Amino acid sequence: MADLWQSAMDHAVSVARKAGEVVREALQVDRKVMTKSSSVDLVTQTDQKVEKLIIQSVQEKFPSHRFIGEESVAAGERCVLTNEPTWIIDPIDGTTNFVHAFPFVAVSIGFCVNKQVEFGVVYSCLEDKMFTARRGKGSFCNGEPLQVSDQKDIKQAIIATEFGSSRDPEVVDHIFSSLRNIVSIPVHGVRGAGTAAINMCLVASGCVEAYYEIGIHVWDVAAGSLIVSEAGGVLMDVEGGQMDMMSRRIVAANSKIIAERIVKEISVFSPLRDDAPPDGHH
Ligand code: IPD
Repeated sequence: MADLWQSAMDHAVSVARKAGEVVREALQVDRKVMTKSSSVDLVTQTDQKVEKLIIQSVQEKFPSHRFIGEESVAAGERCVLTNEPTWIIDPIDGTTNFVHAFPFVAVSIGFCVNKQVEFGVVYSCLEDKMFTARRGKGSFCNGEPLQVSDQKDIKQAIIATEFGSSRDPEVVDHIFSSLRNIVSIPVHGVRGAGTAAINMCLVASGCVEAYYEIGIHVWDVAAGSLIVSEAGGVLMDVEGGQMDMMSRRIVAANSKIIAERIVKEISVFSPLRDDAPPDGHH
């Protein structure tokens, strides 16, 4: 099996690069925006086109594999992770950035078997940085090994987070309450690249000590989670304990100490899970 997954990973890298080219070209022409769950949850024709391109190309090579894709789910497909080999795809992570030409946009491809991420590929296509990780084999950026920061003092840390795509007043209150607590620790700074995948690559690269968010989806974090852990980082739920990829909540940090410190400051809420049944219960 090991060789099979290696060839799947090689394919993921090459299709992510192709997808990145399409995104870069489209940035010049296609910025026609549509909305999804809210007026700030954006999608473009390029998101849909790139997801199709990736799925078709993978299907030709691995016809029995399954897919969870952001735009396929938006179009009504169920988001269910089984034990079967499954490609989890975000064709454009950072769609809002794409629409505004803010220069952080990623193609994110995670690959799971038995619900465990076997490899992750995040292509930051405007920076031309290819982040990769294979389970047990480390994380890399353009072939160079990555290592999380060794800073264990939260007061010397930079923390990444996002405002997400909900403007529900209760959610906004939670976001600002967490932010206020974290800024007041005080930390050195708070940053956000506008894409969960790139925020996680920044943790893996040692540029920020942690990233947390509530409201992300499995396709935003599947690849990035392995890139963080293979670079020596840890993943945690926002209430502590094990991270659950379908729960839409994540803390990714350079260490358990930093992750646990962040958890203390997060104002917790639980969005509808990605794998919630269509009748919408938690
Ligand atoms: C979004 C980005 C953003 C995060 C949102 C995600 P998309 O993904 O990762 O940084 O705040 O929660 O949904 O919609 O650009 O693929």
